[in-house]
Amino acid sequence: MMSDSLLNALLHAKKVVTLTGAGISAESGIPTFRGAGGLWEGYPVEKVATVEGFEKDPQLVWRFYNERRVNIAKAAPNDAHIILAKMEKIYDLWIITQNIDGLHQKAGSRNVVELHGNIWRVRCTNCGRVEYNYEVPLREIPPRCKRCGGLLRPDVVWFGEPVYDINKAYQLTEKCEIMFVIGTSAQVYPAAYLPRAAWSHGAKIVEINPQETPVSSYADFIFRESATSAMRKIYQAIQEASQ
Ligand code: OAD
Repeated sequence: MMSDSLLNALLHAKKVVTLTGAGISAESGIPTFRGAGGLWEGYPVEKVATVEGFEKDPQLVWRFYNERRVNIAKAAPNDAHIILAKMEKIYDLWIITQNIDGLHQKAGSRNVVELHGNIWRVRCTNCGRVEYNYEVPLREIPPRCKRCGGLLRPDVVWFGEPVYDINKAYQLTEKCEIMFVIGTSAQVYPAAYLPRAAWSHGAKIVEINPQETPVSSYADFIFRESATSAMRKIYQAIQEASQ
């Protein structure tokens, strides 16, 4: 059962923002980062997710990303991604995601801000050209730029680099009436500031996460369960109430 006050907020809201993290894609078979079996476990972050690591050993970094691309290519959006895409028909809804897997767009969402880039994009370290590249597995590691032959890198944000579109993310955050915070440990900044910023602008915060996070201390509503299970309940309640 969902609380009446959440249902009431959902029935009156127009502007909704969803901050998503790796947990929303966990049920699509993509490992999260932290905790047992997490993606960073076994991979020294400084070797595979920093500019310095890439400059030292682009081969190793590309092997790591090639493996992730192979895994992500097999993954399908789950009900949480799909329901969020459907909710674009009900709300002025934006997704701000830390994920690079592209599953929100694959589910049909159009309003997506990708703070950490996208694993299907590559960027030339020489001429700066950016393009989508869906080759799985990559034929050449490390891949080279078609235009200038320069070394390509994944167009994703590494540690120490600025995130993409943070101004847009803040604008959306400051205007929303409800923010869903789904499947993020809220430990990586600046994404982790967004729920607090939304809350201080008066938005209701709905956290969906089987584990407690720093957001739990001020969230207005908490679903201690998986993303698909919570989103099914929420969507069903909205639909029943609007019939
Ligand atoms: P984390 O791996 O830090 O956290 C994943 C969160 O998802 C945890 O809080 C889990 O409890 C939760 N979770 C697990 N399964 C879930 C499920 N089925 N439904 C809902 N929640 C679930 O991932 P992020 O917070 O996304 O950055 O990590 C943020 C950033 O740290 C990533 O974007 C990445 C990483 O370093 C970069 O690479 C720049």
